[in-house]
Amino acid sequence: MSASRVVVTGGSGFVGGHLVDRLLARGDEVTVFDAVPPAGPVAADVRFVPGDVLDPDALAKAVEPGTDVVYHLAAVVGVDEYLARPLDVIDINFTGTRNVLEAAAAAGTRVVAASTSEVFGKNPAVPWREDDDRVLGSTSADRWSYSTSKALTEHLVLAFSRRHGLAASIVRYFNVYGPRQRPAFLISRSVHRALNGRPLVVYDEGRQTRCFTYVGDAVSGTVLAGVHPRAVGEVFNIGSMVENTVGAAIGLVAELTGVEEIVHVATGEKLGKGYEDLSRRIPHNGKASELLGWSCPTGLREGVESTIAWARDNRWWLDLPDSGAA
Ligand SMILES: NC(=O)c1ccc[n+]([C@@H]2O[C@H](COP(=O)([O-])OP(=O)(O)OC[C@H]3O[C@@H](n4cnc5c(N)ncnc54)[C@H](O)[C@@H]3O)[C@@H](O)[C@H]2O)c1
Repeated sequence: MSASRVVVTGGSGFVGGHLVDRLLARGDEVTVFDAVPPAGPVAADVRFVPGDVLDPDALAKAVEPGTDVVYHLAAVVGVDEYLARPLDVIDINFTGTRNVLEAAAAAGTRVVAASTSEVFGKNPAVPWREDDDRVLGSTSADRWSYSTSKALTEHLVLAFSRRHGLAASIVRYFNVYGPRQRPAFLISRSVHRALNGRPLVVYDEGRQTRCFTYVGDAVSGTVLAGVHPRAVGEVFNIGSMVENTVGAAIGLVAELTGVEEIVHVATGEKLGKGYEDLSRRIPHNGKASELLGWSCPTGLREGVESTIAWARDNRWWLDLPDSGAA
């Protein structure tokens, strides 16, 4: 495959950073567009364009004619963040995505937009296929603003694709984890706490389940969505189908780091009434396998081992504050 010119919005972030590394390894010419520079060390050959996706002029400097693909990952991410910044969640997802799509349409560029398993809300009929229903709670619960605004970005992407002929695809991630993730998510926070000698925290007895997806596998699906002819105009669930309880995942981190102390917290106590946790969240990932040839080979043990090994070598990450919420 010949090298491409690509732009990664949100390329300073967790998934974006791994995506950038993969694209560079493939020989692509990579531009990162992000409001902040990357937190850790950066490859020398990345072009960094600072800017906000809410600013179309800044975006136009990154998404120039001749760009082959824009991977649009910039967003407000994490339960702590979307409870604290509900207006930013809505503006950045909706207006920011619209600006990215306009810039891509003007430059004749293909788009892959990141979405989330949260769009399915609390639909109890798991596993979820791409076209399954969205089942949401009340608008008085802030947690649904993320799901709703990401769903609106999906509508935008599909409208640009169907009405304006933009070659665009959507990847819906399911609980992605791995090295460099902000220590505010279940695996990253647990590894961060364990290696800083702090007890691990289990919410609501740890009986909820999640399908933890290793970042390298999520990146493979994202790259395929940006090159595969059959991806255009399609939505893909990019997530492992292996279900684990939250308690088992935290137990695995405890086992692999030798931590013995685990404390229990009720989600409502920590996050307040606006938060409503989901008991199960499982994708059906057959569409990405069949259409794109994607697979998700990294098991939880292997992925957590790599995350721990990386964290041990990266003191700057261990020194980040633990902003953990969920
Ligand atoms: N990590 C997951 O488990 C997960 C799950 C579902 C969906 N996603 C989606 O994947 C994408 C990447 O998530 P992540 O985990 O890497 O998050 P992240 O917070 O690590 O990265 C997001 C990046 O977007 C940037 N950003 C935020 N607002 C911006 C703005 N207005 N303009 C420019 N840049 C801005 C941030 O600076 C950050 O670098 C997001 O779209 C997220 O919604 C992630």
